[in-house]
Amino acid sequence: MSEGSTAICPGSYDPVTNGHLDIIGRTARIFDRVIVGVVNQPVRKKKTLFTAEERAGFIERALRGIDNVEVLTFSTLLVDFARENGATTIVKGLRAISDFEYEFEMNQLNRKLAPEIESAYVMASSEYSFLSSTGVKELATFGGDVTDLVPDEVAAALRERIER
Ligand code: PNS
Repeated sequence: MSEGSTAICPGSYDPVTNGHLDIIGRTARIFDRVIVGVVNQPVRKKKTLFTAEERAGFIERALRGIDNVEVLTFSTLLVDFARENGATTIVKGLRAISDFEYEFEMNQLNRKLAPEIESAYVMASSEYSFLSSTGVKELATFGGDVTDLVPDEVAAALRERIER
């Protein structure tokens, strides 16, 4: 990787899971600087359970100790956010073939908008290949135990938010 390379790990992170943290941590070993981009309001999803500030805060606190990662929220096109932050690469996690179609479409759209920004994909570790924010929210809604799947603070926040 070239000197001073910056990657963006974008997502809704509603909420962040241990699978996301694994991808971000592994990306931070490849790039000099990683910016976790928390989208304010995902267009393709219904209203988020947590605000963008809450979602960003969970990630920030979970990643304390990894010096080359910072967490920012954004409300623009992803490629504009990447350009504003001097990033050369968008890094996303892939869990299964079912992720491919959506990611392929995003890849083509982003390349059309910004051919100079490359997208790269990190394969989920096998222990997280089933894990999604949607699944975690569903488990928590029905009283399932999510403590192994998300940071402790997120598990507590899910219990509190869902009880309300
Ligand atoms: O975790 P998600 O929900 O899969 O993340 C989706 C995200 C944030 C990567 C995507 O919604 C996004 O890039 N949003 C910003 C708007 C944008 O640039 N869309 C893609 C090109 S039209």
